[in-house]
Amino acid sequence: MQEVIEYIDRQRERFVRELVDWVKIPSISSLPEHARDVVASAGHLVRALGQTRPDRAMVLPTRGHPAVYAEWLHAPGKPTLLVYGHHDVQPVDPLDAWQSPPFEPEARDGLLYGRGTVDDKGQVYIHAKAIQAFVETGAKKLPINVKLIVEGEEEIGSTHLADLLQQHAAMLAADYVCVSDTAMYGRGIPSLCIGLRGLTYSEIIVRGAANDVHSGSFGGGIANPAHALAHIVASLHDADGRIAIEGFYDRVRDLSPDERREIASLAHDDAAWLGASGARMAIGEKGYSTLERIWARPSLDVCGMGSGFQGAGSKTIIPATAMAKVSSRLVPDQVPEEIARLLEAHVRRHAPPGVDLEVRYLSGAEPYLAPTDHRVYGAAKRAFSKAFGKETVFIREGGSIPFVRTIAEITGKPCLLMGFGQPDENSHAPNERIVLENFHLGIKAAAYLYDELAQMDGR
Ligand code: BES
Ligand code: MN
Ligand code: MN
Repeated sequence: MQEVIEYIDRQRERFVRELVDWVKIPSISSLPEHARDVVASAGHLVRALGQTRPDRAMVLPTRGHPAVYAEWLHAPGKPTLLVYGHHDVQPVDPLDAWQSPPFEPEARDGLLYGRGTVDDKGQVYIHAKAIQAFVETGAKKLPINVKLIVEGEEEIGSTHLADLLQQHAAMLAADYVCVSDTAMYGRGIPSLCIGLRGLTYSEIIVRGAANDVHSGSFGGGIANPAHALAHIVASLHDADGRIAIEGFYDRVRDLSPDERREIASLAHDDAAWLGASGARMAIGEKGYSTLERIWARPSLDVCGMGSGFQGAGSKTIIPATAMAKVSSRLVPDQVPEEIARLLEAHVRRHAPPGVDLEVRYLSGAEPYLAPTDHRVYGAAKRAFSKAFGKETVFIREGGSIPFVRTIAEITGKPCLLMGFGQPDENSHAPNERIVLENFHLGIKAAAYLYDELAQMDGR
């Protein structure tokens, strides 16, 4: 191992340069005008993986954006690890809030700025470079078998992922599964994520008149879709910050006293946490701490809302339509499709008369809670701690990764969530960055993980 670790130290600058080349490709999955860039990103990754001498590396087309698959089957008789990440990124607007252009990555003060640096190209490269370190040193091969799947549609809800995993189930078979797409609890704190929230994302469209009409001629005489939507949105929470959708909490698993103790044992400073967002104060469901609210309790948010005149000055109209995008983060054992149905029923019940409603379910992801008594968590804890020189903590995250439950259901294996991001790295926001020290130590942690797993028997 020493040789591998020293090699990672020596290649530090080169690995960053190689990441920079990939981040330059604007693989924004949600914008149709970038579809070709997502294809280019997949092609770039397959070519870049060539230097790690995989047994095979290929683009896996889907009915949407392509994924990438590669495998290194150098260790007959040893366990096989499936590593997951994604190469698509979020849109970059507002562009003028970026200090350097999102697709011209720039290192400043130990941070590498650019869209996708931490979410998730940097975290994919952490494994790619750990693999490279084994292949380019001493034994010229990995101590375990590694399979890498890098999706191109994670940021739009992994629309074709279940099909892809089912179609290639035999090729993707593995003893252990590791996701490289989460964050650490804080600077330098090795953290294994043991829970993710799920998601349901819906769009509400309210329609009134056939087109915008004069508010003098019609005001007071017809329903206003903007008012109707505001009324609906206001009905989604009660005064205690609980979600007011009938049946919403029916399947929510309560936190056990042990789980609450474990969460409370983590040092948390609301003021510092707020600092990362610039928000004024912490609010939420009564009776729960901030960490409980964002990790282990469901939430519901309007992600976007629009209606009527948005220009400068005034325009006297009654808008014809109003629209809201609503997402809900889910916890075990809530089911995305079921929550989407409950939301729609609630919206229809609370719509005032005189408007038409359309409610469309756009995407969903299942929540996840890891079986932490599995031996693989001990191995991952040791690997993470060796690289970062600190005790590893268990955390949860409030975000969602559709792959996690899908693969857990297909393989029946626990899913390790070993992530190297930071809560303040602006993923999905302007000035996204990765702490270069974490990129470097992450490569070592991945290398130690392979070494630890080589000493296990696949169970
Ligand atoms: N890497 C994130 C998931 C994540 C978020 C992990 C926060 C840890 C902390 C992932 O790329 C992501 O953004 N997922 C989407 C999924 C959705 C589009 C189905 C999310 O959570 O919004
Ligand atoms: Mn991600
Ligand atoms: Mn993301």
